[in-house]
Amino acid sequence: MNLAIIGAQWGDEGKGKIVDMLAPHFDVVTRYQGGHNAGHTVIIRQGGADQKFVLHLIPSGITHAAKTCVIGNGVVVDPRALIAEMAELRGKGVEVTPRNLKVSNRAHLILPYHVALDRAIEAGRGGNAVGTTMRGIGPAYEDKMARRGLMVGELTDPARLSERLRANTRQANRLLAMLGGEPIDEDRLVEEGSQWCQLLAPHIEDTTYYLNQAMRDGQRILIEGAQATMLDIDHGTYPFVTSSSSSVGGACTGTGLPPSAVGLVIGVIKAYTTRVGGGPFPTELNDETGEAIRARGQEFGASTGRPRRTGWFDAVIARYSVMINGLGALALTKLDVLDELDEIRVCTGYRINGQVTDRVPFDAESLSAAEPVCETLPGWKSPTRGIRRFNDLPSRAQDYLRRLSELSGAPFAFISTGPERSETIVDHDVLRACGLSLEE
Ligand code: IMP
Repeated sequence: MNLAIIGAQWGDEGKGKIVDMLAPHFDVVTRYQGGHNAGHTVIIRQGGADQKFVLHLIPSGITHAAKTCVIGNGVVVDPRALIAEMAELRGKGVEVTPRNLKVSNRAHLILPYHVALDRAIEAGRGGNAVGTTMRGIGPAYEDKMARRGLMVGELTDPARLSERLRANTRQANRLLAMLGGEPIDEDRLVEEGSQWCQLLAPHIEDTTYYLNQAMRDGQRILIEGAQATMLDIDHGTYPFVTSSSSSVGGACTGTGLPPSAVGLVIGVIKAYTTRVGGGPFPTELNDETGEAIRARGQEFGASTGRPRRTGWFDAVIARYSVMINGLGALALTKLDVLDELDEIRVCTGYRINGQVTDRVPFDAESLSAAEPVCETLPGWKSPTRGIRRFNDLPSRAQDYLRRLSELSGAPFAFISTGPERSETIVDHDVLRACGLSLEE
């Protein structure tokens, strides 16, 4: 059975660790959307010691030599970022070859003018800035939808690439001039483009055919989401979202796999909530507790280093994610971050203009006005770091988890009690009930 791993909140839920843990049970790991705005922390074994490494674009399976990693057609690829990440991995002794890293010829390119446009557009938004990662993600998807984007496959035809790079750079420079952004040097870009062709062409392939054939050959595919449900262009807190379909719908459009191939969907969710960038966040804590969670959870962006906004677990969001993605189970992360709190709150509904609702409103204005309706649970005030069996958790932590699962409407297949792979409670009964067996 194939498996999709998807963020159930606003991102940074710890998908990297869960994908990293599960990758050994799969043959192929594929990303389907987003770009190098993501930051997935994985562990690389080098010189006999485990080292943390943050992947931005390449699927987290790359550290497992036998796997094939696929950057699907729904991803936007910055060639500079991809080349740098490949080089960094090789420098750490990780094998990166055309056999184990394949990039879809239909994925769209992020070019330097997209980065310049991202900056200029964000500056123009003033106080309503989305708080993007400034990686050019939005402008690259805009070009794709406006049917003027350049695809990765064009890197296999340097002459055609040069021609199209020149035409697109001229058009983008006109736009940049209007927005007060820095123009891009067309000649330098064309020269750089020919280097990209040399370095990346061996990895480029029609990954739609590759993935479908792999499936017919009985290989198991792990589909790795980036960002998260509440940042989805359709289902998230628009306009404070990313520009791709980060919830499960994107898994099909972004890989060329049919819906029947997706199999089980597991949502990764933190024991509390964080968000980076602008936009509504009903359970946000702008106080000492929020600060304590940020410090203990090391809540600083993996891609940009920005401090993350922190708040209580929001069961309205959790239920919505379970519904949108058809989550069969959840992977709860960072339980240990809450170990020292006296009491812990959980949001069960929103009060908006005096009315209580258990639904996510469609607009950012209503969600910004939402006052969380909360339950308060007692803290467990004892360490949970590294605990590997549910029954070994303090009873109040068990109660907290049961309540979260009940409110969210999905069981926990994994509970992460620390950053290391081994610091995880795995519920094999839940996985088996979902049709997935990880036991050898
Ligand atoms: P963009 O994806 O760079 O356009 O940023 C759009 C919004 O998504 C901003 O609020 C970002 O902070 C947020 N975002 C993008 N990537 C991530 C991520 O990997 N984790 C959390 N938030 C993200």
